[in-house]
Amino acid sequence: MARRESREIDHHRAPFFEALLAYRDQGIIPYSTPGHKRGCGAPEELLAALGSSALELDIPIGGGVDDTHRTSGVQREAEALAADAWGADDALFLVNGSSTGNIAFLLATCRPGDTVIVARNLHTSLLSGLILSGASPVYVFPEIDPDLNLTLDVSAEAVEQALSDNPDARAVVLISPSYTGVSSDLSRIAARCRASGVRLFVDEAWGPHFPFHPDLPEPAVRAGASGAVTSIHKLLAGLTQASLLTLGPDVPRESIAPAVSLVETTSPSALIAASIDVARRQMALHGRELLDRTINLAHAARRELSTIPGISVIGADVISGRPGAGHDPTRIMIDVRGTGLTGLEAESLLRSRARIGVEMSDLTSVIAHVTIGDSRKSIDHLIAGFRWLGDRPRSSSRARRSEDAPPAGLVASAGRPLLTPREAAMSPSLTVPLEQASGQVAAETVTPYPPGIPVMAPGDLITQEALEYLRMARDSGQYISGPQDASLGTIRVVDQH
Ligand SMILES: Cc1ncc(COP(=O)(O)O)c(C=O)c1O
Repeated sequence: MARRESREIDHHRAPFFEALLAYRDQGIIPYSTPGHKRGCGAPEELLAALGSSALELDIPIGGGVDDTHRTSGVQREAEALAADAWGADDALFLVNGSSTGNIAFLLATCRPGDTVIVARNLHTSLLSGLILSGASPVYVFPEIDPDLNLTLDVSAEAVEQALSDNPDARAVVLISPSYTGVSSDLSRIAARCRASGVRLFVDEAWGPHFPFHPDLPEPAVRAGASGAVTSIHKLLAGLTQASLLTLGPDVPRESIAPAVSLVETTSPSALIAASIDVARRQMALHGRELLDRTINLAHAARRELSTIPGISVIGADVISGRPGAGHDPTRIMIDVRGTGLTGLEAESLLRSRARIGVEMSDLTSVIAHVTIGDSRKSIDHLIAGFRWLGDRPRSSSRARRSEDAPPAGLVASAGRPLLTPREAAMSPSLTVPLEQASGQVAAETVTPYPPGIPVMAPGDLITQEALEYLRMARDSGQYISGPQDASLGTIRVVDQH
């Protein structure tokens, strides 16, 4: 186990980051990658934009900081510190994002045809993992708030039922927190998985800050999951693509590291890895006070945004009556229907007119994150932007479109797998008009937002209900992710001839 193998745990250390600086300070003249050679060959405009310090640190891990085998050395030490900070038995740095961890877990755990219970609000990287591993998914659906059309948690009861119905399942894979910031009752689900001898893996991409504040949901591995992946770059200070795979006692790193190597680059960025190391040090030493301030700012933003006419902020009341579910207050979902705008229109106006860039938008809402990088000033800027939006003259025609969207609850009756995602992805496919797709097998994923749950995933039998749902989603102007034909005039299906 990392913690036992490592030198004494001292979160003041950042062994990987320090090794990278030491390498730079040795002044070694490189005859190796990268070709810009510490910035000397970089185009002037890149040098001017990034500064020479960033380029001097831009090397692959194997280029002087450590070897890339993850068995010893400074990366191993840094990973042991990260494991300790996340309450895990072990951890692996990921420099290609949480996507790599999701794929690697499925590759390491499932053989072709193995049953895996997967939350239907799965990220596209989990679908890639299903395609690459050949596993056969049994989908469990998250609860949906019918008024807000919002994805909540996957309940413990739903997982328990799926485990009873599928005693051959090899793993349960959940997304917690959901994209809307709602977490599942992981302690209860993990205990049930353990009792059934099944591994629980959690896509915790949106919860990297959870270990560092008691008001946030419990992190997955601490709650008993066998493994979890979290994006240090999404809500902490890691550079883009910096993520962490955390492991429980039943998943030795030797069982998963080869699968990570299958999907990650052979030139892992030392700069990204170093950013994981220092982000861990920052949070282990100062996380509580940084998040105290962040959570207070998020609550202030919620209060002040709620006073703006036409704006409504979705709060922790969405989980009232859902025992064991948690809510992340720093993820602010703002329902803009009362302004007469769709969320997509609000996002575009906020960007062009108020210099505000939100995380995402859909037909009804926008999501804004408050993180350790925010200040009272940035929150004031956000509120001023929404005040401007609330003061604009209304147009009711646009607001009506969100009422035409299909009731989100219907999505649960849409997906019925007939082939595995791998069988569907590896089959020849053809493009047919949407209206003619009933009874065919989907070759692509189609996900309207909200609620961000695929109505169709590769391998699903396409039902009349699914087509009706998609027609309504398309006609109401919902944002639809996944299909090659974004207008949904046509759809890709498996060629069964
Ligand atoms: C739920 C979920 N899982 C995984 C990912 C992938 O994370 P990364 O960008 O770190 O690869 C995302 C990205 O948005 C996500 O929303």
